[in-house]
Amino acid sequence: MTSFAPTIIELAYFISALCFIIGLRRMSTPSKARSGIWVAGIGMFLAIGATFLHPDVINRFSLILVAMCIGVLIALIPARRVPLTKMPQMIALYNGLGGGAAAGIAAVELLRVTQHGPSIKLLAFTGALIGSIAFSGSILAWARLSGRVVNPHRFANRQIVYVSMLAAVLMLGFVLIFSNTAHPILLLLFFICSLVFGSVMTLPIAAADLPVLISLYNALAGLAVALEGVVFNNPAMIVAGTLVFAAGALLTRLMARSVNRRLSEIMYSGFGLSHVEQESRTAKSPVNEVEAFDAAVSMAYAENVVIVPGYGMAIAQAQHKVQELTQLLEERGVNVRFAIHPVAGRMPGHMNVLLAEAGVSYEKIVDLSEINGDFNKVDVALVIGASDIVNLAARSDERSPLHGMPILNVDEAGSVIVLKRGDGVGYGYAGVENPLLQHSKTKVLHGDAKASVQDLIGAVKSLD
Ligand code: TAP
Repeated sequence: MTSFAPTIIELAYFISALCFIIGLRRMSTPSKARSGIWVAGIGMFLAIGATFLHPDVINRFSLILVAMCIGVLIALIPARRVPLTKMPQMIALYNGLGGGAAAGIAAVELLRVTQHGPSIKLLAFTGALIGSIAFSGSILAWARLSGRVVNPHRFANRQIVYVSMLAAVLMLGFVLIFSNTAHPILLLLFFICSLVFGSVMTLPIAAADLPVLISLYNALAGLAVALEGVVFNNPAMIVAGTLVFAAGALLTRLMARSVNRRLSEIMYSGFGLSHVEQESRTAKSPVNEVEAFDAAVSMAYAENVVIVPGYGMAIAQAQHKVQELTQLLEERGVNVRFAIHPVAGRMPGHMNVLLAEAGVSYEKIVDLSEINGDFNKVDVALVIGASDIVNLAARSDERSPLHGMPILNVDEAGSVIVLKRGDGVGYGYAGVENPLLQHSKTKVLHGDAKASVQDLIGAVKSLD
């Protein structure tokens, strides 16, 4: 290695850190988000390139390249093929892998007992614990989102189980930090306990709370990377990890607020009792149905229409048709806006991404806090494949797993049209009935959302 290589490495790390900051800044504006991802990607490319110049790495080139090629191949193929509807579970999985990678780094460092003092080993241990929890918790969240593990699983005295597991992990940590000899068996035991701890913490989390937890694991994975960056004295890892941690922590706070929960409530209390969900599914009551033509007429002659998109719009990939319908209505002088609930869909910003992809302008997209006071001035609320985010039980039914979560107040609009595929009386992600479907103002247009919106388009055109 040449004598100026350390300077080049430091400079590259500095520039990559700048790229991460600029990239994240750009990602906060929808129109600049795509370029933000490129800038952050260039930063990551620089950081990896600089690491290859490091004296400790230079002799292990081939091994690292083989590992990177395997990783790229495993990630690239599903990343290119994944439909937008399965993106949330993929993000949950990749979040977890970041935590897992940090835990893997920590495992190596905790075995190099003679090279580190207790303070560095404490940092490595903390990163290992946080990274393992983020890893196993995210894998379970991925399994829940992809339908592999369906229901939350609660067990008695789980708070005691949490405390006991944490105590066991900390005791193992004490030995690993202060011992001067390597303890591979204890280290293995520590990782098993931490991974199980992450899983048992995630198992009981119910419907509306899962997004908050996913975002928390994202933050924890970032923190684990930042801690391992301190152990390695690697500024790029420290900056990237800290940014992910800060952004994830802010998002967690925002999401917890938007579902009206405290984080401690989500983690430790018993929301969403499963017997309530079972009972409600047995009841079957009729809903008021509507034909596409009648629904189209009510919107075409309205002054104000608000569209509420939900997960069903993503499943049906109806966003382009929705944009076409919006343009038709606007040509007739109707004021159309989109109301976005913070947990609509299956990942933060899910609906914003879909609507942006379809070309809906950002000014028409309004958040829950802004639009909720306006629904009484709205003539028609068109709910497209959404259930939990407009479930009236969230306001009044204390037994509902959604109780306490703010919803979009569509029932305050003049009339409500709900597009849904199935004939159940609700059963969104939380698996419960939605009283909105039997509300006097509500009419249901059954069918796949894309086909139903196409029918609405045809009907609006036929009015000309
Ligand atoms: P959901 O509550 O999941 O409701 C989706 C609705 O779409 C259901 O009524 C479903 O009814 C209907 N649907 C499904 N496929 C359809 C299709 N092809 N055409 C028309 N309708 C269709 O969605 P939501 O209201 O957006 O609420 C989101 C839920 O997911 C919340 O509980 C939230 O906590 C949870 N969650 C969110 C996230 C994030 S970060 N956003 C992450 C994990 C979980 P039918 O099947 O009867 O048609």
